[in-house]
Amino acid sequence: MNNYAGMARSDRGNAPVCDLRSDTVTRPDAGMLAAMAAAEVGDDVYGDDPQVNRLEHELAERLGKEAGLFVPSGTMSNLLALLAHCQRGEEIIVGHGYHVYIDEAAGASVLGGMSLCPVPVRADGALDPAVITEAVKEDDFHYAISRLLSLENTHNGLVVPLADMQAAADAGRRANLAVHLDGARFFNATSALGCSATDLAGLADTVSICLSKGLGAPVGSVLVGPRELIDRARRWRKMLGGGMRQAGVLAAAGLYALAHNTDRLTEDHARAAAMADGLRRLQCGEVSQATNMVFFTPADGRNEDLRDHLSAEGVVIGCGATGAIRLVLHTDIDDTAVEAALSSIRQFYG
Ligand SMILES: Cc1ncc(COP(=O)(O)O)c(C=O)c1O
Repeated sequence: MNNYAGMARSDRGNAPVCDLRSDTVTRPDAGMLAAMAAAEVGDDVYGDDPQVNRLEHELAERLGKEAGLFVPSGTMSNLLALLAHCQRGEEIIVGHGYHVYIDEAAGASVLGGMSLCPVPVRADGALDPAVITEAVKEDDFHYAISRLLSLENTHNGLVVPLADMQAAADAGRRANLAVHLDGARFFNATSALGCSATDLAGLADTVSICLSKGLGAPVGSVLVGPRELIDRARRWRKMLGGGMRQAGVLAAAGLYALAHNTDRLTEDHARAAAMADGLRRLQCGEVSQATNMVFFTPADGRNEDLRDHLSAEGVVIGCGATGAIRLVLHTDIDDTAVEAALSSIRQFYG
């Protein structure tokens, strides 16, 4: 299994008409670049950078938490949360397919001496409360000490309803676990759920939010939570070399993204639905869609031929030799680009 094989562009160069590999591929637009250029900066390791301070404060406030910490990536943000919550010999209960378990190089084990206890993820992206309860270890010196439950929303584009999130968090809390939420696409989740940021964030002690996915900033994530945990995470950030100096140029992009790009996530969801609709009409394979992601499994298994055909037309997809192809909508893809991608796919199957 490798989710990343076949993700590199084969043409490696020209700006594509439509890059559907991920919502991480966005480029800052003119407004964002202007905000970055105008940013007043200071040394953030000294706590002097006004943009970073504003960004941390703004996201903490929006999510109803005491404090925030700006970090280079979602992986670091999750890792700092795990390191802040747990000690050596403790374990994190986490969904088997969740990013924290499968896609972050086991950082918590390598760097923190913790174990990750994976549990099955339901087809709807949620964790079953009974499965969480079952996974919690008894207090016995043979076992790791169960300390943290790590949830994810959205997961592979699937939005987990608040009631299911609450049920999972409650199961963790009954066993005295703290709760972390990997909210890499936190605002995709809240906009699909039609809930407030505090409704979703309130289920967890700490939440990690990525600015460099659907929100369109080039770099950065923010971890929010109780001040004491964020102070601990700040020490780990320094230790891991994640303390950035005049990071305000990046934080300014994040602030711009929060101001301009959260409401527009519904446009990505609508375009993903349109793309799924167009693919279904072709009747060439299985199609599913949720929030900004479409999964298309070609019935003929000619994934790589399709990828090469599209690449020649400036439409970039990432795919393995067989199986589902993930198509992700984001701020750099408008209706024209969706139509261009669909027409090129139609031509392939024509
Ligand atoms: C659900 C989820 N969590 C965390 C991350 C990590 O973010 P980053 O790539 O910034 O390290 C990703 C990245 O795609 C993700 O999809």
